[in-house]
Amino acid sequence: MVITNVFFFSSVMPITAHPAFHKASAYFKMRIKRIPVDPKTLEIDVKNMRRAITKNTCMLVASAPNFPHGTIDPIEDISNLALEYGIPLHVDGCLGGFLIAFMGQAGFPLKPFDFRVPGVMSISCDTHKYGYTPKGASVILYRTPEIRSHQFYALADWPGGIYASPSIAGSRSGYIIACCWATLMYYGLEGYVEETRKIIQATRDIADGWSKIDGLYLLHNPDVSVVSVGSEKFNIYYVLDGLRAKGWHLNGLQNPPGLHIAVTQLHTQPGVVEKLLKDTRQSVAEILKTKNMSDTPTAVIYGTNQKVPDKSLVCDIAKLYIGACYDTNIPATTTEIK
Ligand SMILES: Cc1ncc(COP(=O)(O)O)c(C=O)c1O
Repeated sequence: MVITNVFFFSSVMPITAHPAFHKASAYFKMRIKRIPVDPKTLEIDVKNMRRAITKNTCMLVASAPNFPHGTIDPIEDISNLALEYGIPLHVDGCLGGFLIAFMGQAGFPLKPFDFRVPGVMSISCDTHKYGYTPKGASVILYRTPEIRSHQFYALADWPGGIYASPSIAGSRSGYIIACCWATLMYYGLEGYVEETRKIIQATRDIADGWSKIDGLYLLHNPDVSVVSVGSEKFNIYYVLDGLRAKGWHLNGLQNPPGLHIAVTQLHTQPGVVEKLLKDTRQSVAEILKTKNMSDTPTAVIYGTNQKVPDKSLVCDIAKLYIGACYDTNIPATTTEIK
């Protein structure tokens, strides 16, 4: 008998952890226990994480920071749990790894988030985000070579020879790795510290500016480079679409509704933060002035999603969309591949 649907092992993580964990769990037939965040602070209570641990829990996850609100999870507290139960803690530094590593030197000190924290056994860190390298290479760090060895695969009796591979991806481009290395060398420690200083400063300026706009409130104080806002006065997605019309491409959030900006090098150029704040003020003023505003595209999408009780339908539609992008029968002009 082939057992295809065991769901034996599970991992425990805040609900804000990236969907990449869900994707991996779906591939490996693992379960995820998602720890809700407090509706006001948008932070997890570590007590709830403790309650979710069972004998089948094989990993705890903390983000540094998470994508939706840019919050760094309480890594030291989660590490204490990890040590108490003997479960490895993975820190997802994919988004902010190349910022948090330099924030101390850039004048924005953080609590320890890495192998200084004893329960942390692995850390992921995307070079193509704040490492400014081309996409296609990334970093996973392990506390010990023994843990790393579980990633390696070898087959000794294949007619094609002895096969050994270090990662899930098989053939990989040496060109991407060379570009990644060259970029790291180009910036060097000083370059990364300087870029980090500018990005974190721009982040705080945006947070400060947005928090002063009547109708907007910060969902969380930005721990790193993400500023997220919501509104108690109007549908926040109107602002998202208003800013889109002015050329800004920010991300929509849900549960609670909001939008966020992940601040990049682009936003540190002269005048960019000021322009964003001016455009936001204008968009909000237009919304407040327009009574009975009709729904804008993002408001419709998120509004509809909230009304669909069975979210698998929404997933099916999203997968149909992906399929349609591959469908050669559809004229190129009708599909937009992001
Ligand atoms: C916090 C975080 N974790 C993980 C990932 C990795 O995602 P991907 O599967 O696209 O590499 C991302 C990418 O945006 C992220 O922001």
